[in-house]
Amino acid sequence: MYYHNNLRGGVKVPTGGDSPRVALGHRAGAIPEPTVTVWMGEGWLGDPPVLRAEVEARPFCVSSPLHRSQGFFSVIIARRYIELGPDAMGNCGQKALDEFFIRRAIDLAWSAAGKTDPNPLVGAVVVRAGEIVAEGVHEKAGEAHAEVAALAAAGSAAEGATLYVTLEPCSHQGKTPPCVDRIIERKIRRVVVSTQDPFRLVDGRGIERLRQAGIEVEMGILRDAAVLLNLSYFKKHILGDGVPAITLKAAVSLDGKISAARGERTDITSEQSRLWTHRLRAMHRSLLVGIETALIDRPRLDCRLPGVFAAPVPVVLDTRLRFPAAYRWPVEAQPFYIFTVHEADREREGALAAAGGTVVRCKESGGGVDIGDVLGRLLADGLGSCLVEGGGAVFSSFIERGLWDALYLFAGPSFFGPDGVTLYRSRTRAPLEAVAADARLIGNDILCAYLNESTRRMLADGLG
Ligand SMILES: NC(=O)c1ccc[n+]([C@@H]2O[C@H](COP(=O)([O-])OP(=O)(O)OC[C@H]3O[C@@H](n4cnc5c(N)ncnc54)[C@H](OP(=O)(O)O)[C@@H]3O)[C@@H](O)[C@H]2O)c1
Repeated sequence: MYYHNNLRGGVKVPTGGDSPRVALGHRAGAIPEPTVTVWMGEGWLGDPPVLRAEVEARPFCVSSPLHRSQGFFSVIIARRYIELGPDAMGNCGQKALDEFFIRRAIDLAWSAAGKTDPNPLVGAVVVRAGEIVAEGVHEKAGEAHAEVAALAAAGSAAEGATLYVTLEPCSHQGKTPPCVDRIIERKIRRVVVSTQDPFRLVDGRGIERLRQAGIEVEMGILRDAAVLLNLSYFKKHILGDGVPAITLKAAVSLDGKISAARGERTDITSEQSRLWTHRLRAMHRSLLVGIETALIDRPRLDCRLPGVFAAPVPVVLDTRLRFPAAYRWPVEAQPFYIFTVHEADREREGALAAAGGTVVRCKESGGGVDIGDVLGRLLADGLGSCLVEGGGAVFSSFIERGLWDALYLFAGPSFFGPDGVTLYRSRTRAPLEAVAADARLIGNDILCAYLNESTRRMLADGLG
């Protein structure tokens, strides 16, 4: 374990090397780090069709190489803070440290993707004298909230410590007692929160109670990154059930191509990025692709994370009903949707319906299926969140119409040149009204995640 020890103000942050002292829902020294096997490959082409990847169940544990690449900007600033001392950097240094620890809490929260429904993802970290003494994750609805798990793990070390938590602690009795009571009881000195909880029984009351108890509260640290964590939850509680949450995701080469050549399926990113894709899948109720992607890549369109609450329902846009009725789904009787136009062939529809598909006829728009109709029908069927995984034509349709809330681009280290398939191919330029909400190294790839500015504005009103 390596720390900078020549500190003023008693602040210590990890500088690399082995894991700092940390406990995940446990006392320090008892770090559970199970590994699980996840089948991460995509598509049924070739035999065997998938790569076998050993991934850590908690890939963002401090000890994992992945974590060491997280938050690289925060780490640099935090190190500078240590070198110069708090006096030289003033509030700016404190903010950098807050971002560093909140980032860690966000990473912890992501590790439970798909397991907490209908509850949000939440992570928490207890920090004392600049050192992480305990961590917690909300693992499942009905189980301990992240901050309570972290406080339990911290034990007496919580007294006088700072609690970092990605979502406002609750102040009401739900399936578990109010978290604020526990925070007050454990004599936490300062609480740093990313976002207010818009759930009507919380909605600012948790923060108010903490302040009334004399606890210093800092709000809004890395709020955009924390909004990405729980996009559907925020949309639902702030804007109501009638608005879908739409996430676009693509893997691109460094020259912005999604495949090396037309008609070809190309692996662009690392297995760690694919793990992230599965997290995104776990967080959405439907998973949409265009017919070309379905025919070329033969994606499994499933979610291969263990313990996930519900896998998303596959959706294909297909005006001519070319989707094969004998598609090789990974599970038997897989329900799926095919969206087509009114004129599509009736016989083909019958074959797809017999194979378990729901064929929906929509308006035609711009030579394809009208996306507004598609989203409306999915919403009506209770599928209020949609992950769009391409290909380029479908991606371009969503971008052109501004129908997206979050955009994840995973860039892998390759160039495909002029033969490569372009991600965005509309003739209209699309300067995105977007905010870079998160950026990180994942394996050998770079992830840039954006929030649509209009979504961000709408949600900001409900987040105090
Ligand atoms: N790197 C990545 O992240 C990634 C992800 C997915 C795919 N890919 C690659 O992308 C390539 C396929 O992409 P692609 O652009 O050729 O095709 P695509 O986007 O997968 O599918 C486009 C087709 O979907 C149908 N469609 C129906 N309604 C539509 C609408 N409103 N908007 C757009 N399309 C609609 C149209 O075919 P009909 O007129 O026949 O209905 C259209 O030609 C493959 O090489 C695949 O490997 C890469």
